[in-house]
Amino acid sequence: MKIGAYSYKGGVGRSVSTANIAVLLAKRGKKVGIIDADIEAPGIDQIFGIDVPSINLLDLLAYPDRYSISKNSFPVVDIKNELKLELDGELFILPSARDRKKLKSVTVDPSLSVIFDNIVKEFTEKYNLDYLFVDCRSGLAHYSVMTLWAVEVVLLFFGWGKQNFNGSNYILSNVIERIPKPSFSIASRIPDFIGEEELKERVQNTLGNKLLGYIMQDKDLAWEEQIIVLKNPESKAAKALTEISYKIEELGKI
Ligand SMILES: Nc1ncnc2c1ncn2[C@@H]1O[C@H](COP(=O)(O)OP(=O)(O)OP(=O)(O)O)[C@@H](O)[C@H]1O
Ligand SMILES: [Mg+2]
Repeated sequence: MKIGAYSYKGGVGRSVSTANIAVLLAKRGKKVGIIDADIEAPGIDQIFGIDVPSINLLDLLAYPDRYSISKNSFPVVDIKNELKLELDGELFILPSARDRKKLKSVTVDPSLSVIFDNIVKEFTEKYNLDYLFVDCRSGLAHYSVMTLWAVEVVLLFFGWGKQNFNGSNYILSNVIERIPKPSFSIASRIPDFIGEEELKERVQNTLGNKLLGYIMQDKDLAWEEQIIVLKNPESKAAKALTEISYKIEELGKI
């Protein structure tokens, strides 16, 4: 299943949550991939603490005739091997680099959507993935819409507040429903004075789609981006992420 991790606003915990959920699924024996498609502000590499290979997603987007996952698999990082993680499954990452020169070589026109769609397909097929997460660009950039086309399901991350609710609502009715793709909301970095019922009611009234789960504001995650499901699996945040990971498995069975 190809899953887009998207949010209208930035900084809501989308990348950290996606990285943690991917690790959980891989730990339970799944073959999982992540594409860092937030190409103007990538960060998945930093969450895992890995170096970005000199050939990365930007090369696949800029020079599709020269580089492809099926021809040469080197842009993909094998996280299980690299970080010596105990996973029953596999975890592969296709990172992006903060290289302004390379970013300029990526031509923004309709053909880019076709190129990205092809990268998603090749990654899934070559590594026989059960789940591929695409960490999308937030907001309404061309890059965000391009990534939403390529996935099957959208996880709409949002934080508490008017800008998040109104922006997510706009995206749901003007982008996701028009493509159209099934979408599920994930509330993130929610202040602990907000109760579950209040949250569910607000999602129901404002967004109207299903709340797949919620992750409260967490002290350790606020302090540092980390794979909290491995570092502190008993924490509230790790438990919330685990619950969401099981719900994602259920989505795969629809
Ligand atoms: N549940 C949480 N509680 C507190 N802090 C969190 C939580 N989840 C993530 N964070 C922190 O919030 C910051 C932003 O997280 P992250 O980079 O995952 O957000 P993002 O939505 O991907 O942002 P961007 O749009 O910039 O890519 C990071 O410092 C991260 O450690
Ligand atoms: Mg991010």
